[in-house]
Amino acid sequence: MKDIIDVELKTRTVDFSKCKTDILTVGLFSDTKELDKLNKELNKNLNGAIDQLMELGDFKGKDGTSAVVYGNGQTGAKRVLLVGLGEKKKATLDTIRNAAAHAAKKSVELKAKTMSLALHKAFGGRFDPTAMARVCGEGTYFGSYRYDEFITENDNGRLGSLKVELIDPDPAKLKKLKKGLSSGIAIGKAQSYARTLANRPANVVTPAELAAAAKEIARGSQRLSCTVFDEKQMTAKGMGGVLAVGSGSQNKPRFVILKYSPPGKAASNLPTVALVGKAITFDSGGISIKPSANMDEMKLDKSGGIAVLGAMKALAELAPPVNVFGIVPSAENMPSGTSYRPGDIINTFSGKTVEVQNTDAEGRMILCDAISYAVKQKCDIIIDIATLTGACVVALGKYMAGLMGNDDRLIKDLQKASQVCGEKVWPMPSSEEYAKEMKSKIADLKNIGSRWGGACTAAAFLGQFAGDTKWAHLDIAGVWSFEKATEFTSEGASAFGVRLLTTYVTGLKKKKK
Ligand code: BES
Ligand code: MN
Ligand code: ZN
Repeated sequence: MKDIIDVELKTRTVDFSKCKTDILTVGLFSDTKELDKLNKELNKNLNGAIDQLMELGDFKGKDGTSAVVYGNGQTGAKRVLLVGLGEKKKATLDTIRNAAAHAAKKSVELKAKTMSLALHKAFGGRFDPTAMARVCGEGTYFGSYRYDEFITENDNGRLGSLKVELIDPDPAKLKKLKKGLSSGIAIGKAQSYARTLANRPANVVTPAELAAAAKEIARGSQRLSCTVFDEKQMTAKGMGGVLAVGSGSQNKPRFVILKYSPPGKAASNLPTVALVGKAITFDSGGISIKPSANMDEMKLDKSGGIAVLGAMKALAELAPPVNVFGIVPSAENMPSGTSYRPGDIINTFSGKTVEVQNTDAEGRMILCDAISYAVKQKCDIIIDIATLTGACVVALGKYMAGLMGNDDRLIKDLQKASQVCGEKVWPMPSSEEYAKEMKSKIADLKNIGSRWGGACTAAAFLGQFAGDTKWAHLDIAGVWSFEKATEFTSEGASAFGVRLLTTYVTGLKKKKK
């Protein structure tokens, strides 16, 4: 798959003022009285233009704002883009990531061919240069992303490519930046890839197409292999959950397994992690059909599965010493004469039976088979990610994913990874009380609970398929998309989870406990 905008990221040793570029990006805090060394130098070259902007109050260094100063032949740069970083003491790596994203978005809008980032200069020694370069890479991809592949009329208002460089006059500094940048590129590229796959509509991305995309990812890497089960193979294996959900659609379900093997031989001493993602290519609700308003958004119901594909793509580049399975059950949830119905009792892959009380609670029906599959593969850790419940959106809004699980260490590690990668999570319960609600009178389980705590009962349902295996669940129903463009990215799919899952796996300790 071709990138929508071809972004190239490099490092370059060059004096800030002499750097020939369409846009030179620097950061400014809102609460420092004096300009830092770099901004002083630029201000002098620009005849006090930065001072003037600040004095007039046109730019105050506030978070999410920026201003353009024209170089006028006085600097190597045609434009200097001042990006606000907010209050100095509140700044985190997130601040830098968002600033880089903001600059990249502006660069695309201004149709710049080249953009040079010197954001790291504002932070002195406060953050590790490797980490700063990584977030600059991630942010550059995130901010420059747009989804316009189906616009054929006229001009789409952008160039086809953008060349970005991290610059510094000190070669020793650049060496450190370069190291971090390569992971930033791997993660950023994978996330943009995932955003495109998620944004594609359900007539384009069917379960079979999604499986083809997984195969293509595996073809691109020696460390990945891909197996796909079709309906026949799923029937033979008894994956009744995925088959039931897929039964109403002409677009037949698939069960996708990507396997990542680390470099070196001792893979059996290393932990094995399963990343399990819900990939409903369209969720109409099935026979328990959804209201028609905004139903088009349900093309994004494959976002969990696609986050897993994106993470596997990034992991293949980053080559951490861990065994990883990416398990993506995929189906289209449609109403028809062949659909599964409310009242049906389904034999799932685990052997447990599930009474269907609502065909719109389909995510858990496909995930339960995938989680059981991961248990059967003897994975040490299972993390599932899914656009699972509207209840999670009610609880947490559009800023954070719900995080549940059965192991405190795993939850803590995911929270830590969340802080590093900037994809926010919030802990929620999925304890025994919730699990009890999922007991059926005529089967082992039913697929919906009471009116209350829907995100928690859904998680508690899934937890029963993990058994004693360490398991965590990410409900990304709220964070799957941006409803509107923001200062740092365009609207549409977010591919939330690519950074979180990748960061978690690359942060794992080598030895199996
Ligand atoms: N894919 C939806 C959840 C969803 C809702 C994602 C809104 C993003 C935004 C899921 O399959 C679903 O329909 N869940 C039902 C569960 C209910 C029937 C128990 C829900 O949340 O209403
Ligand atoms: Mn549903
Ligand atoms: Zn769904």
